[in-house]
Amino acid sequence: MSYNILKGKKGIIFGALDEKSIAWKVAKRAHEEGAEFVLTNAPLAMRMGEIKRLAEECNAEIIPADATSVEDLENLFTKAQEILGGKIDFVLHSIGMSPNIRKGKTYGDLNYEWFLKTLDISALSFHKVMHVAEKQDAMNEWGSIVALSYIAAQRVFPDYTDMSQAKAVLESIARNYGYRLGKQKKVRVNTISQSPTKTTAGTGVGGFDAFYEYADKMSPLGNASAEACADYCITLFSDLTKLVTMQNLMHDGGFSSMGISEDIVDMISK
Ligand SMILES: NC(=O)c1ccc[n+]([C@@H]2O[C@H](COP(=O)([O-])OP(=O)(O)OC[C@H]3O[C@@H](n4cnc5c(N)ncnc54)[C@H](O)[C@@H]3O)[C@@H](O)[C@H]2O)c1
Repeated sequence: MSYNILKGKKGIIFGALDEKSIAWKVAKRAHEEGAEFVLTNAPLAMRMGEIKRLAEECNAEIIPADATSVEDLENLFTKAQEILGGKIDFVLHSIGMSPNIRKGKTYGDLNYEWFLKTLDISALSFHKVMHVAEKQDAMNEWGSIVALSYIAAQRVFPDYTDMSQAKAVLESIARNYGYRLGKQKKVRVNTISQSPTKTTAGTGVGGFDAFYEYADKMSPLGNASAEACADYCITLFSDLTKLVTMQNLMHDGGFSSMGISEDIVDMISK
């Protein structure tokens, strides 16, 4: 169902790799709600991905950018403003990758070069995005910037290894840049802490099926789907949430408030 709540808004959406991506669902919903936006992803991912199909469906242009490269981001923000004909109202940062997780390294055996890469791709890129937006004065007043996080920033999920630190840094960057952009331009910055979701990044984490099931059984509303996450992102881009900023917002069906659930007790007692 469409409410046209993003009519007239211009955005940049990072991280749509394939149909399962959270950013893909956000793009579809933003288009339904009347937004205009550009899509962006790492050049390598775009060769593999199906982003062109999404771009056609959403009448959007694609601008490749490695989110760790300030130069690429400068080009992205410049071109996005040219294409969209003005400043930006919303940005979605939906980016995460850990070479250590990809290569199956345990927490006690991390490769530190890769650890730095994890932090650069999954957290510092968020700072770089806002740094470039600030330098170019690219955001409209009352704009909204959202990044996606995970509860491993606060709790221990052993297989999430160095991504846990990346998410903690990401959430801290949201608060600190949220202060800065709030004072400068009334731009809000938040992270959404999303339930485990069956995407390429999600299912790449060891033991994913088990903790997906576990989270589902712990949460009174069950795991939040990628579609539900997209709906939540739309509310945060809309004018209905103008004073929400510097928050890590739990979008997890209640998981983060639980100690133990009857479903888990039943499972263990069997
Ligand atoms: N899937 C989950 O269980 C889950 C749960 C909570 C949070 N998240 C977060 O949601 C976000 C989106 O992930 P997803 O689950 O949709 O998976 P996904 O694999 O579809 O998306 C990850 C994206 O990051 C992009 N990316 C990687 N390196 C990049 C770079 N250098 N520059 C630009 N883009 C780059 C990839 O190309 C891909 O599009 C991530 O931040 C992830 O950590 C996912």
